Amino acid sequence: MKNYLSINSLIPSFNKVLNVPGDKSISIRWVLLASQAIGKSKAYNLLESDDVISAIVSMRKLGVKILKRRDCYEIKGVGLSGFSHKNNINLNAGNSGTFARLLCGTLAGNVKNVKVTGDSSLSKRDFSRVVRPLELFGISIKTKKNKLPITIKGSKYLRPIFYKEDKGSAQVKSAILLASLNTPGQTIVKSKMSRNHTELMFKNCLKIPLNLKKYKNYEIIKVEGKTNYKSFDYKIPGDISSAAFFIALTILANKSSLKMKNVNYNNSRTGIIEILKKMKAKIKVTNIKNYKGEKVADIFVSSSENLIGVNCPKSLNTKSIDEFLIIFLLCAKAKGISKFIGINELREKESDRLKIGASFLRSIGIKVDEKFDSLKIYGNPNLKIKKQVIIKNFLKDHRVFMMSCVAALTLGGNFKIYDKKSINSSFPNFLNLLKKLGAKIDNS
Ligand code: S3P
Repeated sequence: MKNYLSINSLIPSFNKVLNVPGDKSISIRWVLLASQAIGKSKAYNLLESDDVISAIVSMRKLGVKILKRRDCYEIKGVGLSGFSHKNNINLNAGNSGTFARLLCGTLAGNVKNVKVTGDSSLSKRDFSRVVRPLELFGISIKTKKNKLPITIKGSKYLRPIFYKEDKGSAQVKSAILLASLNTPGQTIVKSKMSRNHTELMFKNCLKIPLNLKKYKNYEIIKVEGKTNYKSFDYKIPGDISSAAFFIALTILANKSSLKMKNVNYNNSRTGIIEILKKMKAKIKVTNIKNYKGEKVADIFVSSSENLIGVNCPKSLNTKSIDEFLIIFLLCAKAKGISKFIGINELREKESDRLKIGASFLRSIGIKVDEKFDSLKIYGNPNLKIKKQVIIKNFLKDHRVFMMSCVAALTLGGNFKIYDKKSINSSFPNFLNLLKKLGAKIDNS
């Protein structure tokens, strides 16, 4: 089978309801935390993508029993510092920065050597951001130039730390919080705002002592470690970062509408909705409910012909960090100039998404102004692509792939998009759902 697909026609109009797959961030956290609980935890709608499967396979290698019965995953937790395995095992995190970095924190109290590896994209990414705080706990970490592979040896004598997390990275914050679980005493993180699924699980599922104070631009989290916790069940809501591609598809498609039910609507993830409202997209969020501290909602979106450019406030950056590529595409079709500042963290993702986003827009005839940490997009509401576009996607970035499919299905042109396997990181069912909406895709 070819490693690329071709799209040569626009998606016909559609009016449908669909379910997006389970949230990736929550799925990975559930696997890691249920593995260290006392007793059997169950999860429904766990995302079955490569990133989550890497987490499951790795926990099994650490001696945790995980099985699937029908639509339910069961994990028999081993308790804190309860992993049992041979010395010098190798855990492969695949493409997943989230799993790899959270794993480093999870291994804090594990005294045997574990080598963590990843694929070619993950092996290029920076790990100094987690190595620095984790070494302060007393964990020994060997790495060349702060990249994978890294070898981790936890300790029985961990010390609690105070750490200032200044990137707005939930992965760093969560790695520290996970390490704090195995550490006696109080760990304190002063963290720039970022997604808060770990804290919500600590508080609402693990019920461990956690004190959280929010300030304007940061929060202070205090955790008392070494408190074993009981197993917990979870019904994973849909992933707003996956829904984002279908939101954009519908907005750009002709005379279409789409409802997505039961999507995670955590305030630290809803930047895309806030940005789209500023752009005058037709989007409504209804039926907002609370589930274990997480908000969950239904999203209704329809074709929006009169998008306007956005001057994106910096405060929305971490709230839409995984959605920028698709937001850039929407800005290409909006009237006026869109501006994004302080977005250099995009350069640290599965690929350099600021560079790739900008060069993609240039390749479809949109003027952009790219700086190290900002992007200006000169939108064109009459944008139509009339040529062949080839997306090489060398770093196998799932979101580059999905954004390119949305562009091809709504803006025209003949697209050849490489590395279709990349969607397995977060959204294996992506192409099937597109076809269900009527998309014609040559995927042979
Ligand atoms: C994630 C945090 C974000 C995000 C990633 C998932 C998480 O990364 O980009 O896809 O689950 O904690 P950073 O925290 O490094 O910004």
